[in-house]
Amino acid sequence: SQVWVAAIRAADLAPNDATRIQHNQSCIALYNLDGRFYATAGICTHAHAFLSEGYINGQTIECPLHQGLFHIPTGKPLSPPVTEALKTYQTKIEQGTVYVLVD
Ligand code: FES
Repeated sequence: SQVWVAAIRAADLAPNDATRIQHNQSCIALYNLDGRFYATAGICTHAHAFLSEGYINGQTIECPLHQGLFHIPTGKPLSPPVTEALKTYQTKIEQGTVYVLVD
């Protein structure tokens, strides 16, 4: 079953920055895109790299290891070598805290 998990304070993640949290077995990347918060799988689908250490450009994240690109809101792969989508998670903000819907 799905549950909302408190992840971070919204104020602690600057616009156009990313961070990661660990929830049970899942590593999750959180992004602040101009004040809207998104969450995806935290590890690249190509090899073991933390996407939170990559480069945000608009709505895309560039993997720090081989520069594969993903669309953050949908997790879709946009350029080689990534071919597999990232899992995405719903987010919400309540009283300044960002929550992620995890299963
Ligand atoms: Fe991300 Fe290779 S590990 S592109």
